[in-house]
Amino acid sequence: MTSWKDQITELLNNTVKEVEKVSASKSLEELEVNVLGRKGRLAELMKELKDVAAEERPKLGVLANDVKTKIEEIFVHARTSFASAEIKQRLNHETVDVTEPGVRPPEGHLHLTTQAIRDITRVFERAGFSTVRYPEIDWDWYAFESLNMPKDHPARDDWETFFVDVPSSDKPEEGKMVLVPHVSNWQARVMKRAVAQGEFPVRLINIAKCYRRQSDATHVPMFHQFEGMVIDKEVSITHLTGTMDYFVRSFFGPDRRARLRPHHFRFTEPSFEVDISCSLCAGTGKDSNGTKCRLCKRGWVELGGAGMIHPNVLRAGGIDPNEYSGFAFGWGVERTFSMKEGLQIDDLRIMYKNDVRFLQQF
Ligand code: DAH
Repeated sequence: MTSWKDQITELLNNTVKEVEKVSASKSLEELEVNVLGRKGRLAELMKELKDVAAEERPKLGVLANDVKTKIEEIFVHARTSFASAEIKQRLNHETVDVTEPGVRPPEGHLHLTTQAIRDITRVFERAGFSTVRYPEIDWDWYAFESLNMPKDHPARDDWETFFVDVPSSDKPEEGKMVLVPHVSNWQARVMKRAVAQGEFPVRLINIAKCYRRQSDATHVPMFHQFEGMVIDKEVSITHLTGTMDYFVRSFFGPDRRARLRPHHFRFTEPSFEVDISCSLCAGTGKDSNGTKCRLCKRGWVELGGAGMIHPNVLRAGGIDPNEYSGFAFGWGVERTFSMKEGLQIDDLRIMYKNDVRFLQQF
């Protein structure tokens, strides 16, 4: 019977030979398990070491360790040369056409409303306005009463309001809680703050969500408005007109014009609707054949409201109307966006349908 010592030497020699014969990395792995694995040939031999005479065991133990290290090195070496041979082979056979256009990963982008909010904000910031945000759920007093619309005033009907069913605040004069039907609820708060901190002039813009019980081609129940406010000594309608004109030209393009048309709001005096010249007929009201423009019919499209802040509103905010005056304007973000040149969104509701085919065009 071969001695234990011979057996382990033979294992080393055989392994060297067998590794040399291996031609694929898969079989190399199998061989490695077969020799070095938990139930492999080396492990089996080690079990038999206990049958060897006790005085020989220490020496053979050292030998066994030595053999094990050698075998491990053989496998490491074989694995490395397999890997580099494979790479060499791939380099010889595979080619990469570096001029071939890549595959573009699908890329999302900001929602149009967010884009519009950013664009609008940028335009006003260039004119020295700072952007702030105020609550989108608020007390009746801020949404209506402070804006010169006393309780039960019929003008309130224009803002088809959602009321929130919560107990009223500890100040009963603030009334019920509402989802703000316009963002004008910020006005009294801004004024009180400006008075308290002595921060004049006020030159701010507020963009937030608002809610009304309306849903049709030109209304969505949740939409966004931006509102601007300037308050200082001797602010006049000229400043308002200039600001509107500046915004319209910057946002819609140098060829578009703004016009103020008399209107009525409870919180401004005088009040205006702001119109912009139609992108389709360039403000003429007629198309190239001389027939009525199908988009605007009269040369202008309506954007939103504006006016000189009503003295009662200034008073509600703690400002003396004999000392200060101001103007404000408030428009829908979605509506403003949809009036950009070349866009013809005939149903605003599509903006919130999450239809990627629509959204990805922008
Ligand atoms: N809050 C008004 C609305 O929702 C719009 C508006 C009109 C805002 C005139 C203003 C303003 O600041 O001066 O219809």
